[in-house]
Amino acid sequence: MSRVAYVNGRFVPHGEAVVHVEDRGYQFADAVYEVWSVLDGRLGDFQGHMDRLHRSMDELRIAHPMSRAALLRVLRECVRRNRLRNGLLYLQISRGTARRDHPFPDPPVPASVVATCKPLDMAALHAKADKGVAVATQPDNRWGRCDIKTVGLLPNILAKQAAKERGAAEAWLVDELGLITEGSSTNAWIVDADGVLRTRDTNCNILRGVTRANLLAIAREEGVEFAERPFSIEEAKQAREAFFTAASAFLTPVVSIDGAKIGDGKPGPLTRKLRQLYFERALEEAV
Ligand code: PDD
Repeated sequence: MSRVAYVNGRFVPHGEAVVHVEDRGYQFADAVYEVWSVLDGRLGDFQGHMDRLHRSMDELRIAHPMSRAALLRVLRECVRRNRLRNGLLYLQISRGTARRDHPFPDPPVPASVVATCKPLDMAALHAKADKGVAVATQPDNRWGRCDIKTVGLLPNILAKQAAKERGAAEAWLVDELGLITEGSSTNAWIVDADGVLRTRDTNCNILRGVTRANLLAIAREEGVEFAERPFSIEEAKQAREAFFTAASAFLTPVVSIDGAKIGDGKPGPLTRKLRQLYFERALEEAV
């Protein structure tokens, strides 16, 4: 099936989808993005990603290229034209195309808007989750505004690649105090030695994951004891269970950290239960 991309007002064949060489996203990483899961042809956690997108644009003073309603139409049309059932929808908005100068273009230029889709092999994803994956720790050397979802992802990419070369599926980033911040493209969670569900608070320098927020709401409703409190590499290694979350990973069980087995080396019971509840909820609420 041929893929179709959205580029600045037009749907074009994926292979012909291009932006200008002086797009500020390309030259300066002066751009924000979002990733939605597509479940059964509908957008997962829609509102949370839309809200964060607008926050990211506002923090960087990128003018909104269109209304939320118009953007939703574009996103849905992208899914429809790609005949996507299950997969990911990527949206990128840059400050636009202008002669290469560091300050914002003056007068401002229109933002560039690009959207692409890709299918996910859900059977493979579930099979991977049934077994669980390994993570490897890496130093967190990113900039101080990781709450903004920008395309400036070089440290994340280098961490992910280093983890991959160590046979791990994800890198867990570690701050100068030895505390885990988040994954290179996911949020990090453990069920600690006392059975408390833990993930780092969002006052520190991490992305406010939409999957994270929705999972915390589920935990609250289910009466699961949780704490938004940092944990060290040692605590993670001694945890009963571990997992990470993202639109692209849903909730993926972790069974080893830097080669140390977590629990009995299999996805834990709370992890499996939360994964199931998350999917049920996400499917129910997808738009
Ligand atoms: N990544 N932390 C980082 C650094 C991320 O890049 C992401 C998402 C998350 C999880 O956020 P959410 O639950 O809202 O997807 C946490 C996307 C999927 C990506 O870069 O492809």
